[in-house]
Amino acid sequence: MFEHLQPLPQDPILSMLADYRADMHPHKLDLGIGVYKDEQGYTPIMRAVKEAESRLLTIEQSKSYTAPAGTAAYNQLASALVFGPDHPALRDQRIVSAQTPGGCGALRMGAEFLHGCSQESRVWVSLPTWANHIPLLAGAGLEIAEYPYYDYTTKGIQFEAMLQALEQASAGDFILLHGCCHNPSGADLNQEQWRAVADLMARKGLIPFVDMAYQGLGNGLDQDAFGVRLLAERFPEMLVATSCSKNFGLYRERTGTLFIVATNRTEAQTAGSQLFSKIRSHYSMPPAHGAAIVETILSDTGLTTSWESELASMRERIQGLRQQLVAAIKASGIDGDFTFIQHQSGMFSFLGITPQQVEQLRQDYSIYMINSSRINVAGLNQGSMDYFVSALAEVLSTR
Ligand code: LMR
Repeated sequence: MFEHLQPLPQDPILSMLADYRADMHPHKLDLGIGVYKDEQGYTPIMRAVKEAESRLLTIEQSKSYTAPAGTAAYNQLASALVFGPDHPALRDQRIVSAQTPGGCGALRMGAEFLHGCSQESRVWVSLPTWANHIPLLAGAGLEIAEYPYYDYTTKGIQFEAMLQALEQASAGDFILLHGCCHNPSGADLNQEQWRAVADLMARKGLIPFVDMAYQGLGNGLDQDAFGVRLLAERFPEMLVATSCSKNFGLYRERTGTLFIVATNRTEAQTAGSQLFSKIRSHYSMPPAHGAAIVETILSDTGLTTSWESELASMRERIQGLRQQLVAAIKASGIDGDFTFIQHQSGMFSFLGITPQQVEQLRQDYSIYMINSSRINVAGLNQGSMDYFVSALAEVLSTR
């Protein structure tokens, strides 16, 4: 029966990475997939991660099974990182968590859990959102609805339009929000906007589902968690999916967490039983290595300090690159105001150029970015900045 199958298009982000790797151009530049790169263009293993791995090699005693939720120690440390150690929802024991195979695993298991709670509810996603959100959520059976978010003209958030759209959601609908470093736009809600969205969702009986894949890469570990922590105080029920891919650099180790916040401890335990049963029937239990690394780091003061300071330098490097890019574009004489890039957060911004111009940059200069013109700012460095900006000037001058 396989002869009836139709080939499917490849994932746009992952296939671009393969094209980039096969490209032989000496100045090729990857601004596509969202991985952090250092000044030399490498995605390094963080110092604390290396040290934790070497400790694990000596102390690890067994490869026996863990559990669908992963290990209790990891879950506890991950909860404190996301919610803050003294968050009232943690104190009240109304959060249950599961270590997952990356942020994707957390999102998918969250969607499976929500679909098990209600088949009528829709999940609202920002327009635009990360491309893989749709298959991850819809694949679990959830119906997708969209709310306006990024305004391609003003390069900011269409906040009024966002609120108006959310007014149309029905009680019990799920609202997917990006905790920080919005992917793909880099445009984040400010604190006042988080409060206004929380008011609206609470008034309408909507259930927040926050995806926070970049904690620590925007403005700081605590600052980036502002929205999540606010919602967890105000909402009796919500979900949070997080990832250790970017902030611990554990991409291929597939390490993330799904948190279910419930009204009280008993309901959290029941929700957990539902979630763990779903996990068992999907992949049984998560891989252990990445989580063991995170657990080793976060349970050791020295390693935690080293990790936080390396993360801070990654964050500062991205912020610096944002400023340098804006300055270099201005100096090149390119028409238009690109200052929005330095006000946005995390790895991504839209350049705001056409798909044809994106294609021309790829064809003529081996500069890779997503068709929407999303760039990974962390993919730039001192050596490539001029090459990138001259190529951009060239392509924009031929429009
Ligand atoms: C991205 O958006 O590039 C990253 O989140 C990586 C991925 O898996 O798509």
